[in-house]
Amino acid sequence: MSELKVGLAGLGTVGAAVFRMLERRAGELEARTGRAVKVTAVAARDRSRDRGLDLSSVTWFEDPVALAREGDIDVLVELMGGDGDPAKAAVAAALDRGIPVVTANKALLAKSGVDLARRAEASGAGLHFEAAVAGGIPIVKTLREALAGNAIERVSGILNGTCNYILTRMADEKLSFHVCLTEAQRLGYAEADPTFDIDGFDTAHKLAILTSLAFGTQVDAEAIYVEGIRQLTLADLEAADDLGYRVKLLGVAVKTDTGIEQRVHPTMVPKHWPIAQVSGVTNAVAVDGDAVTLTLVGPGAGGDATASAVVGDIFDVARGAKGYAFGLPVERLAKAERAAMQRHEGG
Ligand code: HSE
Repeated sequence: MSELKVGLAGLGTVGAAVFRMLERRAGELEARTGRAVKVTAVAARDRSRDRGLDLSSVTWFEDPVALAREGDIDVLVELMGGDGDPAKAAVAAALDRGIPVVTANKALLAKSGVDLARRAEASGAGLHFEAAVAGGIPIVKTLREALAGNAIERVSGILNGTCNYILTRMADEKLSFHVCLTEAQRLGYAEADPTFDIDGFDTAHKLAILTSLAFGTQVDAEAIYVEGIRQLTLADLEAADDLGYRVKLLGVAVKTDTGIEQRVHPTMVPKHWPIAQVSGVTNAVAVDGDAVTLTLVGPGAGGDATASAVVGDIFDVARGAKGYAFGLPVERLAKAERAAMQRHEGG
């Protein structure tokens, strides 16, 4: 079979990790799919920057939309981030051309997931986004494929590594919020604009995607009640500790009598519960199905963890995996319920 030509839009921490992982795993990917998988084109701003990668044989585009529209590629891997253009225009252009897309861009999917899934359906190109939720944890495929036999009742978890890192270090080492945030940024966990992390919006973007996959609703981050961790102090965490609790930022989607309720807020979790013991940048996602209840725990952010999910999706493209982006045809996705509550107690 022919080579799979990969176009990489974005060469930051994750993009560079994907490039290296594809090189490192080239033999294994070819053995498993029958296709040589190779980055042949890249779109990134600064060509002169030394990233420690051998980019001598790739075609360089300044403009990611031009890569998507004109590049000689078989799959576009979008790792630029941002919920608008150029990420949206690049992804839309590739899908409209029938080129499959792999993206880690949760903000884009939370805002335009329905539109992009519709384009994917129209052209028959796949839209893959395992890396958009919980980094290295394969929760997208778990909900969409492996648990297809279950009626899901609840999905919940720690979906933002930066917040969990901050809350863990504050509680364990009695450090201030700002010291821990700066450290999370230095380690490359935080979003370019860290308010997305600490105000709960990154968790909400990921929860919106999980809700769609679990409950067959349209992705709709606006439907989620969101409260972040900015207002939490060390004294709050110590008081919770005295009472036998850890504070975690949880995203929760649960089936109720009136619809699917979605919320993100700091939650006091009893210390003996497994989720209370999930520390640092680690994420955890718990799924309650009518047949299977499980919790997946793993790295939620960082170059290699995210690259692991991206490369898994590229593998799916290479082996010709088929399916609807959110598990169902877009016309069968129901509208999401809007959050009714203003505040919510407990998890
Ligand atoms: N800023 C995100 C986090 C990165 O901290 O989890 C991964 O989505």
